[in-house]
Amino acid sequence: MLITIPNVLSPGEIQQFRQHLDSADWHNGINTAGAIARNVKNNQQLDDSQEPAISLGNHILKTLSRHPAFISAALPDRIYPPKFNRYSKNETYGAHIDGSLMQIPETGITLRTDLSATLFLADPDEYEGGELTIETKYGPQTIKLPAGDLVLYPSTSLHSVAPVSQGARIASFFWIQSMVRDIQQREMLFDLDSSVQALSAELGAAHPEVVSLSGLYHNLLRQWASPS
Ligand code: NI
Repeated sequence: MLITIPNVLSPGEIQQFRQHLDSADWHNGINTAGAIARNVKNNQQLDDSQEPAISLGNHILKTLSRHPAFISAALPDRIYPPKFNRYSKNETYGAHIDGSLMQIPETGITLRTDLSATLFLADPDEYEGGELTIETKYGPQTIKLPAGDLVLYPSTSLHSVAPVSQGARIASFFWIQSMVRDIQQREMLFDLDSSVQALSAELGAAHPEVVSLSGLYHNLLRQWASPS
């Protein structure tokens, strides 16, 4: 299941991000590609160990840590420090599946990639092409979101970024290890939580059935979550 989360960053935040990113020092992304991705990857990345990547990445993590829709959808246990990429004219990333295990730099901690995230930092009218296509069991889905919006998709999915023919596609991307590893369990929890939130808004949080369903949500979460 693909989940899009709108307005993770506000227009003002996007403006600030872009001031830093548009004047940043971009490097060839092939340096960080694994042996197989190396053949299909052609884009630019920021050095994660330097500014502005560190501050912007921390800002994204802080924002996500208090974002109810993101937390409900991902049930994050560990989040890889956000990385940044840019695709200019003719740049692309062919079909690939992201690596299964990632070492978080300078921590010695290994993260299992359950979910992949792309946070769009350029508006769709700033570039031609650059669509993110994700293979799902219902066929390919093509994603191109407004700046500030995020898409979450299972890291088990084959995906690609179409060649950019004009302008530049700028985004942040990262991976999440979820407290609930099983994708079906995680999706059911997300659906249940979404319904509880909607019912709570309609009936009030103190309504006995809302209290009961909310308790059921937490009891299922207790069964299925294994925080590290
Ligand atoms: Ni990827």
